[in-house]
Amino acid sequence: MIGKVIIIGDSGVGKTTILTQFIHERYKNDHDLTIGVDFGSKYVNINNAEVRLQIWDTAGQECFRSISRSYYKDAKVAIIVFDAANNKYKEQLNSWINDINMHNNNVKIIIVCNKKDKLSKFQQTNISKKIKECYSNQFYLISSKIFSDVEKVFINAAEIIYEDLQHIEEHHQQNNIISFEKPSVWNNIKIKVKTCF
Ligand code: GTP
Repeated sequence: MIGKVIIIGDSGVGKTTILTQFIHERYKNDHDLTIGVDFGSKYVNINNAEVRLQIWDTAGQECFRSISRSYYKDAKVAIIVFDAANNKYKEQLNSWINDINMHNNNVKIIIVCNKKDKLSKFQQTNISKKIKECYSNQFYLISSKIFSDVEKVFINAAEIIYEDLQHIEEHHQQNNIISFEKPSVWNNIKIKVKTCF
């Protein structure tokens, strides 16, 4: 099973760090601007099935927006990352949600607040409450710096892809059964031929 995942969000929120953490299990302190896109791939086991995540880490800078958008197509999951330390995170989040929904109406969104290590316990509770009140999407509060809960986000992405592919398979099977039960045109012809003679 293969599924495409994209990571989107403003520049500097930690998208590349999250991907590096998940794929290579390491943390880098520098902010290397993503130029265009980066790519990573990893298998995740869901219900004894190997789901291969193809993950595209897009550039957050406005000047790369059209390149980033060209990767929205066929994505099954969009991980939208924000940094709660930024006062404008809500506007940013809404703008990314609108952007992805405008270009891909089959995608499932996971909202991720990164850099929780910079927040007090009170702030963490507050932000989780606010996001859960305003959005119905899956939400994770993580820190790629202190290796906290990054993997959970991608396991959730793999579960979504797994369930999606299961539905598609079930749908195909149901359609096959229906077409098998339907009388074929050939049967009708044979019946007509019989009655003619
Ligand atoms: P663009 O490539 O410009 O879109 O940025 P990006 O979203 O990929 O950001 P990047 O991963 O390069 O991270 C930006 C900065 O945030 C880096 O200096 C990281 O070390 C830092 N950073 C990432 N995750 C965390 C975190 O969980 N906690 C803290 N304190 N810093 C983090």
